[in-house]
Amino acid sequence: MSDAVFHQVLSFESGNSTDLFVGQGACAKLRSYVEPYSKAGIFLLFDESLPELLVRHVSQALPSCSQISISSGEEVKTLESLKEVSLKLLEFGCKRSSLIVVLGGGAATDFGGLVASLFMRGVDCLYVPTTLLAAVDASLGGKTGVNLGGVKNILGTFSHPRCVCIDTTLFESLPSRVFHAGVAEIIKHGLLADSSYFEQIEKEVPLSPTSESLRDVILRSIEIKSEIVLEDERESGKRKLLNLGHTFGHAVEAYSHTTDNPLLHGEAVAIGCVFAAYLSHLEGYLAKEDVNRIETCFSEQNLPSRFSPAKHRKDELLALLRQDKKSTADGVRWVLLAQLGEAVFDREVSQEVLAKALQYIS
Ligand SMILES: NC(=O)c1ccc[n+]([C@@H]2O[C@H](COP(=O)([O-])OP(=O)(O)OC[C@H]3O[C@@H](n4cnc5c(N)ncnc54)[C@H](O)[C@@H]3O)[C@@H](O)[C@H]2O)c1
Ligand SMILES: [Zn+2]
Repeated sequence: MSDAVFHQVLSFESGNSTDLFVGQGACAKLRSYVEPYSKAGIFLLFDESLPELLVRHVSQALPSCSQISISSGEEVKTLESLKEVSLKLLEFGCKRSSLIVVLGGGAATDFGGLVASLFMRGVDCLYVPTTLLAAVDASLGGKTGVNLGGVKNILGTFSHPRCVCIDTTLFESLPSRVFHAGVAEIIKHGLLADSSYFEQIEKEVPLSPTSESLRDVILRSIEIKSEIVLEDERESGKRKLLNLGHTFGHAVEAYSHTTDNPLLHGEAVAIGCVFAAYLSHLEGYLAKEDVNRIETCFSEQNLPSRFSPAKHRKDELLALLRQDKKSTADGVRWVLLAQLGEAVFDREVSQEVLAKALQYIS
């Protein structure tokens, strides 16, 4: 793997900017970056299930900081955790001019980003993503959030971190299932914006934390996501493209959490992308061979591509689809593939076509 640490500043229309460090050993860049916050205090929020060694490695790269452990994974994305962690920050003396460092996967960055954007109306925040999914997707673009009433990310803000530090060595302790869930978002980026990137991922089977190309793959995904976000920070148009696979994916994810086999977010996105690809085929865009190719690509990256709800619970899944945040008064709008590497958004799909696609995916 290339050992150079890549640095770039992403500037958004809102006037915010994010410093990005990516590469093996990127954590070594942290100390000088966060030093100016030392006086006002640095607060490290970390996922309590992370390996101790990993937390020590990152905290040693920071000047002295207060450490606050947070619940692991999706469990932290609740209003209760928001209150609990905010009270701890208050107790430990966090100020407006302090820095909150969030160490963990996408759940931790969604949660920590929300805490930072609300605490004293906004404290600077730095993410150190520890999953591939958080690196290529969750830590960029400024969306933060917690879940409520069984609906994902229903309370949140748009708030960019000041810095994202992606140290690829941190992925080495990831369970393979969690690592590959991140590859789903990478394939999604290829599908919606760049067919040659999709072809590259088709050949890298399976990607692993020690793959030679990992840093450059992460950089290409970040480039695709940030180019779209730079044009449409608030998701009034083009940013909706990034929701490819997420309409069906979110419904399947929520449904799976009511069963004994909960899916990881990225796994649900893989199924959602295959569903969207098949819808695109039924709507006359994609050839069936392309749908097969997409399905094979997910399978070869150890990701699921099919999902069968229990027969008597199909209606529950359809009801979850209607709860999608991106649905309008007229119904759910879909992101479809015009072709490999090009997506279109805000498409309506008839109930008959949806039923056919549901049949296919099961
Ligand atoms: N804000 C956004 O734009 C955006 C985009 C995509 C996803 N998300 C959100 O991201 C979340 C999913 O994130 P995720 O897939 O990173 O999962 P996660 O944060 O839930 O982490 C998955 C599991 O891996 C463990 N883990 C994390 N890093 C580890 C490491 N290095 N070694 C060992 N174990 C480790 C965690 O403790 C957890 O149990 C969802 O809540 C989703 O909604 C947000
Ligand atoms: Zn996602």
